[in-house]
Amino acid sequence: MARLKIAVLISGRGSNMRSLVETCSTTDGPAEIVMVLSNVADAAGLKFAKDAGIPTMTIDHRHFPDRETFEQKITASLIDAGVELVCLAGFMRLLTASFVNTWRDRLVNIHPSLLPAYKGLHTHARVIADGARFTGCTVHFVRPEMDTGPIIVQAAVPVAFDDDADNLARRVLDAEHQIYPLALRLIAEGRVTIENNLVRIKGAQTPVSSVVNPGLG
Ligand code: GRF
Repeated sequence: MARLKIAVLISGRGSNMRSLVETCSTTDGPAEIVMVLSNVADAAGLKFAKDAGIPTMTIDHRHFPDRETFEQKITASLIDAGVELVCLAGFMRLLTASFVNTWRDRLVNIHPSLLPAYKGLHTHARVIADGARFTGCTVHFVRPEMDTGPIIVQAAVPVAFDDDADNLARRVLDAEHQIYPLALRLIAEGRVTIENNLVRIKGAQTPVSSVVNPGLG
């Protein structure tokens, strides 16, 4: 069966992109990464992608008069490359409703919180300030309103009492590197459908036990 053609959009470090590259490079890899695209020419992730032999492209938003023309260029490049699914991975530009609707149900994002809680930036500092016992990360289909859309996979991460935002970010990032490849695999295997703006996953198993923080006893 032909592998799903995906593009990964980044702006910086690109560790989530790396986790997708790694899962796609296995013999039963779920998808083929046909492009890594960045709006920042010196994004660290671009070098990794180049070294991995993946076509890369920079489209610098500053070279366009407005968001629409910037996004039109991105869409044209994605279509040229035959992209079927777009994975946002630390792409730090707000996207217009027009772009999001063009790629509706073919555009996914990873966010470092348990959505719908803690949309936006600085999630870990806000979680700690609130004294929440759990946070996590979410892979979701993108809808026009920021950090909304049907949820595909989440991981819950306990918050330690002495966590600072950096420690917590590291543990959440480890979980991100597990769930983004999983979500991609589920989509590529054709197991994910959206009904009434909710995701259904064929054959998905739900863990039944709860996790308590602090631990009992
Ligand atoms: C991740 O925390 C992701 O959840 C958020 O931006 C960060 C990107 O990190 N959207 P990286 O560039 O993938 O390392």
